[in-house]
Parts: sequence; structure tokens; C-alpha cells
Amino acid sequence: MAHQLLEGKKGIIFGALDENSIAWKTAEKIYEEGGRFVLTNAPIALRMGTINDLAKKCEAEIIPADATNLEDLALLFEQSKETLGGKLDFVLHSIGMSPNVRKGKDYGDLNYDWFLKTLDVSGISFHKVLQIAEKTESMNEWGSILALTYIAAQRTFPDYGDMAQAKAVLESIARSYGYRFAKNGKVRVNTISQSPTMTTAGTGVPGFDVFFDYADKMSPLGNAPAEDCANYIVMMFSDYTRRVTMQNLMHDGGFSSSGITEEIIAELSK
Ligand SMILES: NC(=O)c1ccc[n+]([C@@H]2O[C@H](COP(=O)([O-])OP(=O)(O)OC[C@H]3O[C@@H](n4cnc5c(N)ncnc54)[C@H](O)[C@@H]3O)[C@@H](O)[C@H]2O)c1
Repeated sequence: MAHQLLEGKKGIIFGALDENSIAWKTAEKIYEEGGRFVLTNAPIALRMGTINDLAKKCEAEIIPADATNLEDLALLFEQSKETLGGKLDFVLHSIGMSPNVRKGKDYGDLNYDWFLKTLDVSGISFHKVLQIAEKTESMNEWGSILALTYIAAQRTFPDYGDMAQAKAVLESIARSYGYRFAKNGKVRVNTISQSPTMTTAGTGVPGFDVFFDYADKMSPLGNAPAEDCANYIVMMFSDYTRRVTMQNLMHDGGFSSSGITEEIIAELSK
């Protein structure tokens, strides 16, 4: 059920890898709501994924960019404005990757080169996106920039490894850059803290099935699916949230405010 909430709005979507990706579902919703956008991902991911199908469906151009590379990002923003015919109203950063988690490194035995890579790809890249957006004067006033995060930034989930530090950095950048971008350009910057979701990045975390099930039982409304996250992102890109900025917004079915639930009690009473 579309309401054309994003009619006339233009933007960039990072991170659609396959049809399970949160960014993929978001692109479909934004398109339904009248928004137009450029799709981008790291060159290697573009070769692996099926993003062409999404681009066709959403009448979107694909512009490759490694989100850690400033030159790639500058080209991306300039080319996106040309393609879309003007400045941008929204940017979605939906990027995460940890070589330590991917290669099963124990938290007490981290490879520090990989740790730096985790921080760069999953955290600092958000600063790079924001800085390039500002320097290239790419955003319209009342624009909205969002990144996706996870509650491991605040609480420990042992198998999430060094991604927890990357997410803490990411959320902190949203506050610091949110202040600056509000003052300089009336642009809002937020993070959405999403429930565990069955995607390539999500299922890369060891024991993800159990983890997913636990979070579902601990959330009074159940885990938030990717489609609901996409709807929330549409709202955050719409004019209905113009003065929401510098926030970490929980989208988790109530998980973050729950101490225990009947489902967990029943499970532990078995
Ligand atoms: N799946 C979950 O359980 C969950 C929960 C909370 C938050 N998130 C966050 O949601 C976001 C999207 O992840 P997803 O679950 O849709 O998984 P996904 O694997 O579909 O998406 C991750 C994306 O990051 C991209 N990426 C990696 N390195 C990059 C680089 N150098 N430059 C550009 N792009 C790069 C990948 O190509 C991929 O498209 C991530 O920030 C993730 O941490 C996921």
C-alpha cells in the first residue's frame, strides 16, 4: 500500500547485495513510494550479487563505489546528481563487514589489521559518506541520511566480535555529524538499530539461528522483519520526520526495553 510519501525525492542506496538485503527491500519500498535513486555497492559485491534485477525493477542506475574510498565516493555523489537531475534528499548506508567475524577469529585473538578493516568498512565509511556529501554540496535542505546498526553497540553479544566496536563508532558519528550537518545544511542524520534479520551479513554471525530465535522470544512484538525496517526507513526519509536527528532509533519489536518475557520463562522452565 503506497502513499507516494517520497514523490520527487532523490537519493543513493548503499548495500543491496541480494533480495534478502535490508537495502534491497528498502529500494523496492522507496520506489513504490515515488522516490528515485542510484544503487551502489563495492565493485566485488556487484560482480557476485544480482543487483541488476533490482535496478531494472526500480529504474535505477548502478554506480560502483567502495564506501571506504574517498575518490569512489566523490565520483558516486557527482554522478548521482547528474543521473537524477539535481541534489539529493536521502542516503541509506546499509553496509557491514568484519573479516574477524567472517573468518571465525576469537575475540581474544583478533587480527588487528582486520579489526581496522572492520572499523573502516562498517563504521568510518559512514563518516566518509557524510563528509563527501557535505563537501560536494550534494544534499538538499531537510535531507535525511541513515545508517543501519545493531544493539551490540550498547550490550555484549559474544559472537558479534569486533562489529560491536564498529557499530559504536557508527552511532557516535551519527551524533557528531548530525550536529554539524543540521547547522550547515539542515540535513538530519540518524541510525536505525534493527532486529536480527536473515541476510548475508546477519547469517555470517556464528550461531545466528539461535540468536535470531532468542531475540524473537525476547521481543513482545517479535523480531522486526526487513520489510518493516524498509517501511521505517521510508518514514525517516519522508517530510514527516524533518526534525528527528542525531538519534539511534530502536526498530526491534520491543527487545531493547524488555527484561524477560513469558516465552523465555517457558523456555527456561522446560
Ligand atoms: N542482518 C542483521 O541481523 C542486521 C541487524 C542489525 C543491523 N544490520 C545492519 O544492516 C546493514 C545491512 O546488512 P544486511 O543485513 O542487509 O546484509 P547484507 O550482507 O545484505 O548487506 C551488507 C552490505 O554491505 C556491503 N559492503 C561490504 N563492504 C563494502 C564496502 N567496502 N563498500 C560498500 N559496500 C560494502 C555488502 O556488499 C553488502 O551489500 C549492515 O549495516 C548490518 O550490520 C543487520
